Amino acid sequence: MAGEGCQSLRARLRQDTQDSHKILDAQITQLCQEGAAGYRRFIVTQWQLFSALSQVSGAKTQPVSMELAARALADLRVMKINADERPLPFAPHPLAVDYLVAGSRLGNQILRRMWRDAGVTSQSTADAYLSAPDYLEHWRGFLAAAETMPPEPEVVLNIVENAIQLFNFCADLLNAQSTEEGLECRIITPQDLSPSTT
Ligand code: HEM
Repeated sequence: MAGEGCQSLRARLRQDTQDSHKILDAQITQLCQEGAAGYRRFIVTQWQLFSALSQVSGAKTQPVSMELAARALADLRVMKINADERPLPFAPHPLAVDYLVAGSRLGNQILRRMWRDAGVTSQSTADAYLSAPDYLEHWRGFLAAAETMPPEPEVVLNIVENAIQLFNFCADLLNAQSTEEGLECRIITPQDLSPSTT
């Protein structure tokens, strides 16, 4: 039955990505403890993540990813940071992307509070990313799409695997920022501020 298959996709996604989500939580909690430097790294990774995800055609959340990437980029410009793009190393199923993008907004208010409690955002004008809406209609859209999709086990497996890979991609971005300070971020030059650049 379609309902059972979809229910199992939703349940599998939550269950099978739980550990990966915990890793991200821990990484971002650690960054919060590093204050302004941690915040700079966090915004770099969010720009890298959402600009990579915004390239996936077929994802209904593509406009959300584009908006989040643009907001993170605006913050990078305020902080005078230029970061390298990180393309996705694989082509994910669009529903896996929608899960990650729409789902990530569920924790948005907590994230905002974490950075405020870390004493960073009250002193920074680079807050375009954290001020973004929650886009909860996209989460509802994802849940509806998951309910109507054909319940073929191999499709479900593929989406779940891709979602885990996407969490890992995000964790790798955060790790790179934590361990390679100065390599990923560099101070921008006046040429980098040209409006035609990404
Ligand atoms: C870029 C990093 C993050 C990504 C990609 C991400 C992704 C997701 C996804 C896909 C969901 C949906 C889970 C489901 O119901 O199946 C979710 C839910 C949630 N996330 Fe995150 N998340 C991130 C960071 C965080 C952080 C740092 C926190 C807070 C410490 C957080 C808190 C939450 C909360 C409270 C929920 C909703 C409640 C729940 O189902 O557990 N997230 N996130």
